[in-house]
Amino acid sequence: MRRKLAAGNWKMNGTPASLDEVAALAAAQPAPACEVLICPPATLIAAMARLAGRGPVMVGGQDCHAAAQGAHTGDIAATMLRDAGASHVILGHSERRADHGEDDATVRAKTRAAHAAGLVAIVCVGETEADRDAGRTLAVVGAQLLGSLPEDATAADTVIAYEPVWAIGAGRTPTLAQIGEVHDFLRAELTARFADGAGFRLLYGGSVKPANAAEIFAVANVDGALVGGASLKAQDFGPIVAAL
Ligand code: G3P
Repeated sequence: MRRKLAAGNWKMNGTPASLDEVAALAAAQPAPACEVLICPPATLIAAMARLAGRGPVMVGGQDCHAAAQGAHTGDIAATMLRDAGASHVILGHSERRADHGEDDATVRAKTRAAHAAGLVAIVCVGETEADRDAGRTLAVVGAQLLGSLPEDATAADTVIAYEPVWAIGAGRTPTLAQIGEVHDFLRAELTARFADGAGFRLLYGGSVKPANAAEIFAVANVDGALVGGASLKAQDFGPIVAAL
């Protein structure tokens, strides 16, 4: 009942020439079994949305400000993302939390702004290696989850991405059992708090590659992936999409 989602996070990568990868992806996967989303840097959103058109690839932002408009140099409002053609926005990525000091309350305010603009928010949670070594993984992701979601979040307007910080861009992933443990925990937390908690999609993110996608997607309560490096090239992202 939960539609699978393959989401790519290009981070601070991509030039206009990179749009060719979207065309190649759409050509390779004209009718994917899952939803497909790419979140390029803000400079490419409008052009990518035009290119993607009515095809299978949706376009998203990587962050938005909590305010609707105003004196916030360098920031972008959720409505601006929507106007540029985005349907989704990634919020609370660990790189935003680390580089820009975003806490759960900030992420929650941004999520509210995204919802008000009609965007689906992809809210990220994940433990550091120190958290995991100290046995704090579930406590950390549970606190991030509850602190980052508005009370009125729904399965239709919110997706959760579990991204262990130590697995991002690292070439190593948790064991399937570790992924399953966290996803089962997140499902239980969502079900306890939200009437439609069973319907929220839970993405795994952190060194997802064509070689490990299928086994990760077979884990219970994994409803797709948030992919960084392997989403930049259609030849890598295509097989991940096909594995869902
Ligand atoms: O948001 C996706 C991300 O943080 C994972 O990056 O490069 O490990 O797939 P990567």
